[in-house]
Amino acid sequence: MRAVYLVKNGKADKAFEIRDASTPEVGPLEIRIKVEAFGLNFADVMARLGLYPDAPPKPGVLGYDVVGHIDAIGTDVDTQLKEGDRVIALTRFGGYAEYVSTDYRGVVKIKNDVAFAIATALATQGGTAFYMAHEMVRLHEGDQVLVHAAAGGVGSLLCQMAKAEGAIVHGTAGSEEKLEYLRSIQVDNPINYRSQQFEKEIGIFLEEKDVKGLDVIFDPIGGKSVKKGVKLLASGGRIVLFGASSLTSAKNIFSKIGVALGFGIYSPIGLLNPSKSLIGINMLRIADDKPEILNRVLQGAVDLFEQGIITPMAGGTYPVEKLAEAHHALEHRGTMGKIAISW
Ligand SMILES: NC(=O)c1ccc[n+]([C@@H]2O[C@H](COP(=O)([O-])OP(=O)(O)OC[C@H]3O[C@@H](n4cnc5c(N)ncnc54)[C@H](OP(=O)(O)O)[C@@H]3O)[C@@H](O)[C@H]2O)c1
Repeated sequence: MRAVYLVKNGKADKAFEIRDASTPEVGPLEIRIKVEAFGLNFADVMARLGLYPDAPPKPGVLGYDVVGHIDAIGTDVDTQLKEGDRVIALTRFGGYAEYVSTDYRGVVKIKNDVAFAIATALATQGGTAFYMAHEMVRLHEGDQVLVHAAAGGVGSLLCQMAKAEGAIVHGTAGSEEKLEYLRSIQVDNPINYRSQQFEKEIGIFLEEKDVKGLDVIFDPIGGKSVKKGVKLLASGGRIVLFGASSLTSAKNIFSKIGVALGFGIYSPIGLLNPSKSLIGINMLRIADDKPEILNRVLQGAVDLFEQGIITPMAGGTYPVEKLAEAHHALEHRGTMGKIAISW
């Protein structure tokens, strides 16, 4: 089979090579998938830039999500799935390949007509968003919810899940085109963080409605946005941290330290008194230690999609030869929605 190897950290056009590799074995608790397409994730960009501690050693094969057909099932797998079924899957790396074996609990069935970008988005972005918005917090009608990078893969699904629960949604994004999209998915307060200060805009919105603060913030940016977010929380408010994309703009060790300090320093007592919570999410750790959760959240995302409650934004499909182009676009905020790469 062929696989795309990360051979060098740095610019996308020098980082990858398509190489021949042996088809992976199927472990007792694994399912092997013949991959139609794999998805790109922002963490892949972080891994390519050498900023992702969990990335496999080089030369290594990245890839968190795929869509394809079941090719083989491990001896101890307890599932209704069968060979030939079309599935989406979370892969703990190895997804940039023609075949991948993965824990059976990270595999769920998907209809034949679901496009590559939508299918792969339902795996990583859908599963992550479902875990955060349905399991780590409980949203209620009228809750004030802020979603950062709201027009992104995870962000747009969080907005749709929050709206479905009756929340009032504030969303930040970096261009007018993205704001237009946010309006189309009924985001109540779309904010262009390049021309507006989100904390100021939200302060004005809340004051006009006589509301004391935000109930939930979903933050993949990290750094100063966390400190500002904690200040915006109402009593009982929660901030869910699931990324640190601001690190990618930090060019040297001093700016990285600046980003780290920007998060702020919190003591439990400092959270107890004002009744605020910080929640950290890393789906890789969940996959390692509690794979049964993966199955629940993947199925949860697929069910919401099939009920018409969420629709991942599809950013398009590139052929594997154009992987570097797609990676470059994702790194430089040139994409909207999930990008899939087809074999
Ligand atoms: N913790 C977990 O387990 C987990 C799982 C999945 C994803 N994630 C994280 O969730 C975030 C979203 O992932 P995604 O795959 O759905 O990507 P995405 O949101 O579609 O793309 C990233 C977006 O982040 C925004 N952004 C803000 N600051 C940025 C910066 N300094 N550099 C680059 N982009 C910046 C950009 O949108 P604007 O133009 O609007 O700024 C960009 O389009 C990522 O941070 C990812 O690492 C975490």
